[in-house]
Amino acid sequence: MKKILVAVLFLFTIVPFAKADEGMWLPLLIGQRIGDMQAKGCRLTAEDIYSVNQASLKDAVVLFGGGCTGELVSNEGLLFTNHHCGYSYIQKHSSVEHDYLKDGFWAMNRSQELPNKGLTVSFLDRMEDVTEQVLKGYNASMTEKQRDSVIRVNSKELIKKAVEGGKGLKANVEALYYGNQFFLFVFRVFTDVRLVGAPPSSIGKFGGDTDNWMWPRHTGDFSIFRIYADKDNNPASYSEDNVPYTPKKFFKISRAGVKEGDFTFVYGCPGSTKEYVVSDDVEYVALVSDPEKIALRTARLDIMKKYMAQSQKVRIQYSSKAANVSNAWKKWQGESKGILKMKTIEKKKEYEKRFKEWAKGTEYDKVVEQLEALYKAKKPYNYAYEYYSETIRTIELLQLAYRVKSLFQLKDPKGAKALAETFFKDYYQPIDMECFVASVKAFDSKMTDEFKPEFFKEKMKEFGSAEEYCNYLYNNSLFTDLNKILSLTEDDIQKMAEDPANQLYDAFNNWYQKSLRPVLLSINSEINLCYRKYMRGQMEFEKERQFYPDANLTLRVAYGNVKGYSPADAIYYDPVSTLKGIMEKDNPDIFDYNIPQKLRDIYAEGGHEKQPVCFIATNHTTGGNSGSPVLNAEGNLIGINFDRVWEGTMSDIVYDPEVCRNISLDIRYLLFNIEQIGGAGYLFNEMVFVD
Ligand code: ARG
Ligand code: ASP
Repeated sequence: MKKILVAVLFLFTIVPFAKADEGMWLPLLIGQRIGDMQAKGCRLTAEDIYSVNQASLKDAVVLFGGGCTGELVSNEGLLFTNHHCGYSYIQKHSSVEHDYLKDGFWAMNRSQELPNKGLTVSFLDRMEDVTEQVLKGYNASMTEKQRDSVIRVNSKELIKKAVEGGKGLKANVEALYYGNQFFLFVFRVFTDVRLVGAPPSSIGKFGGDTDNWMWPRHTGDFSIFRIYADKDNNPASYSEDNVPYTPKKFFKISRAGVKEGDFTFVYGCPGSTKEYVVSDDVEYVALVSDPEKIALRTARLDIMKKYMAQSQKVRIQYSSKAANVSNAWKKWQGESKGILKMKTIEKKKEYEKRFKEWAKGTEYDKVVEQLEALYKAKKPYNYAYEYYSETIRTIELLQLAYRVKSLFQLKDPKGAKALAETFFKDYYQPIDMECFVASVKAFDSKMTDEFKPEFFKEKMKEFGSAEEYCNYLYNNSLFTDLNKILSLTEDDIQKMAEDPANQLYDAFNNWYQKSLRPVLLSINSEINLCYRKYMRGQMEFEKERQFYPDANLTLRVAYGNVKGYSPADAIYYDPVSTLKGIMEKDNPDIFDYNIPQKLRDIYAEGGHEKQPVCFIATNHTTGGNSGSPVLNAEGNLIGINFDRVWEGTMSDIVYDPEVCRNISLDIRYLLFNIEQIGGAGYLFNEMVFVD
């Protein structure tokens, strides 16, 4: 074991210089990349980027909420992230009377900053390679189950030790390279995080879902928060007595701007990628999963949009929901197209052929064949699971019924009622009913009989059509009526369980738990085991290639240059967009392009044509990198990452240096908005500008 471990660790440390800008690197190991970064223009040392002994840039980067990144920009806890990362919080403070989504929000002093229940911000205290400790007691004769249990016990111990004696400390042990390596991450988690400012959506979400994932882009995708701490600068839950947090480090801001070729890097928390999977996985994604899910979401989006266009109230209620549905919907379109264009399936097949040949007689022999068999076995189950997730599971009424009942079962009637009240604030039944019909029809027509719950088959027979079933369910469920929910007591649990909404929910959930989940879990664990081997095999097979661990929401550094691209024959996109482009798109009749009158007026004064708005670069990013600081060669803040170009969204599976670009908000457009649109220029007093 020891020998293998040493060999593996050795493999992880020889990292030849990168050809292209692919890669999401661990900050702790940035010393292995710093030479390449410097060769490309970076003027920092590895210690500037990551250090446990002194304040370094990592201390100014946070995991914002559960899936975005943010950065500290002042000595008083001021934080930038994206508008779409703060969106649900801005929405929660919004109503038809105070529509902060529509009009923006600006605290004019500290007392006006708005607390956000449930929002957390996590600073990485340190990370550490704990592979040896995690695998202590493991030997090669153990089963996978035994190995898991060794890992679990050792990790628990490490985590316990790591959080001892610190306020707000939280730790995780994360597997990298499919469990070939383990890292401990220790965080400090702050829970008093207040909203300071957000532009109106017509700036923060300018272009809406029309421009989402697209370049040229003109979205002012930022929002501003402030972290509060107790008097000793420690994490504390919300209190009026809390004071602005003093960070170890915050980013200085450069207004010097960017031009084609400039070095940039992105420091953030990319969520998930799978760069090392076999062709069977990629083939399923590009030819089955993406296209089918796209079609299902198109149907739901069309329904939402129809009603949103008819009513201002419904538009507010469903804006966040529709944005969520539409986001992956559009990404999948670029992803499947990109995979096919890159011929990734064919290239992986060819690679696997060579690998199989090479692997003969080694411990890696037949591992690809095993993966092929496993994917084949997994396919029908995975397909049913995805179909269920994108149809029945999305029905809002069923989710509500289940959650209310569960809370009552947990003896939390107060929680159940609060949940119902929140739910109805953003619920429009005609949308849900139409989605119900579309979902039920799709599931019924696509699934073979053996992949349908018995209860569902009976109901479809009984009612004869999805429409009839829908009418019956929504007319007879108590969960369509807030007052009925509010009058429920713990004696009504049986009644809740027998409600037609819960009956359907439970039938599907039981079917999933009994017929799909165990099979998927067991196949996935076998797949994972094979990948652990295959990953090591690939590293031996391609000794010259630089490997970085797949993203898993741990802190990473990606670097590259500001660069335009050519998405198709005869088209070349410049890397920087300007306010002039916003004016070109401006159209009061198109919701996504209707800018605030104030912006029109400012522009009319003249002199703002060249005001930069967004720029693109070759940094390898993914979901979770939203809100990440985009830094220049000196490590000063020049932008905020918020998206990728549509043509390059296959970068989660395969990176193409020709078209993979991250999209950033130019920090100067953020400053322009604070001052000119928000009238909150007082915030500049706490920022530090380097030019
Ligand atoms: N595409 C970006 C990301 O994946 C931005 C999403 C939010 N914007 C939107 N119009 N839905 O998160
Ligand atoms: N928009 C994404 C996010 O929210 C970033 C991306 O997928 O490039 O993290």
